[in-house]
Order: sequence, then C-alpha cells, then structure tokens
Amino acid sequence: MEDTLAPYKAALDRITGRVERALDVGTGTGAGAGAIRERFPTATVIGVDVSPAMIAEARKLVPEATFVEGDASDLPFDDESFDLAAHSNMIPFLDETARVLRPGGWTLFAFSSGPETPIWVEPDRLRRELDRRGFADFAEISAGRGVAVVARRPAPN
Ligand SMILES: C[S@@+](CC[C@H](N)C(=O)[O-])C[C@H]1O[C@@H](n2cnc3c(N)ncnc32)[C@H](O)[C@@H]1O
Repeated sequence: MEDTLAPYKAALDRITGRVERALDVGTGTGAGAGAIRERFPTATVIGVDVSPAMIAEARKLVPEATFVEGDASDLPFDDESFDLAAHSNMIPFLDETARVLRPGGWTLFAFSSGPETPIWVEPDRLRRELDRRGFADFAEISAGRGVAVVARRPAPN
C-alpha cells in the first residue's frame, strides 16, 4: 500500500539535534503526529487542527500525542515554544510557523502526491517565502509519490 506519509517521514529523517516539543499543524487524523513520535520517541507531540471532528478522531487513533483545536493562522501557542513545526498536506501559515519555532528549530512541509496533491505549494515558492522570514538550511526531498521541503530557523551565534 502507498505510504502517503513517505515524504513527511523522509523529511523527519533529515532533522538533527534536540526535538523535545513538536507540532503537527493541520493534523487531520493525527498520522503526522504519530510519525513524529516514532522518530522522536521522547518528544512531547501536539497536533493542532481547526476541525473538532478531526481532533476527536486523532485522539482515538494516536493516543501517544496531544491534540488541540486551533487555527494555524493564529496558533494557540507561545512564541518560540517548539523545536519542530511539521505540515502534511496543509496550507502554510508561515508567519505563525516562524513565531512558534525556537531559534534553531525546524519546519517541514510535505505533499503526499507532489503537484497532484489537492493542497500543493511549489517548493521554490515555499523556499522563497521561508527565506524571507529568515529560515535557512533548506532541503527538498522526494519520497514515494511526494515531495517535502525542510528548513531551519538559524540558531544564535
Ligand atoms: C488535507 S488535510 C491533511 C490532514 C493531515 N495532515 C494529512 O496529511 O493527512 C488538511 C487538514 O488541515 C485542517 N485545516 C485546514 N485549515 C486549517 C487551519 N486554518 N488551521 C488548522 N487546521 C486547518 C483541516 O481540518 C484538515 O484536517
């Protein structure tokens, strides 16, 4: 069976350093949050979604993560409170992503079916928009039928 999380998981494998608190934005049924817990078993993982029905489903399917109702354009989290903010097939709200990540923290955007994904943002565009917000260490990854972009907020010197 096709693994729709293949690019998301491949992107998680590129992440180095400390990941103690991670966010899956637009988590849906929580599969991305579950994948983060597999990759970083000691991390606190939070999935956020605007849909109460999705949150209820995710809580059933992925009990090892915490799920919170919230809008990605106005995340209910403190500034610089995450080491990782991940997105699978999700509309990017990059100002909020940048706000909640600590310096040195990572973000990733995965699209399961590349340009055929219903929610699709060209990697070059994502990279430009992330660059404008001070992100660096870009990587573009192909896995399964999909693509992911990884980037990092620079750590202070
Ligand atoms: C295409 S689904 C992807 C779900 C999951 N990440 C996956 O890859 O299977 C998009 C999800 O984003 C959620 N969503 C859409 N707009 C959102 C927003 N502004 N804030 C938070 N979640 C949102 C939807 O409710 C839906 O669960």
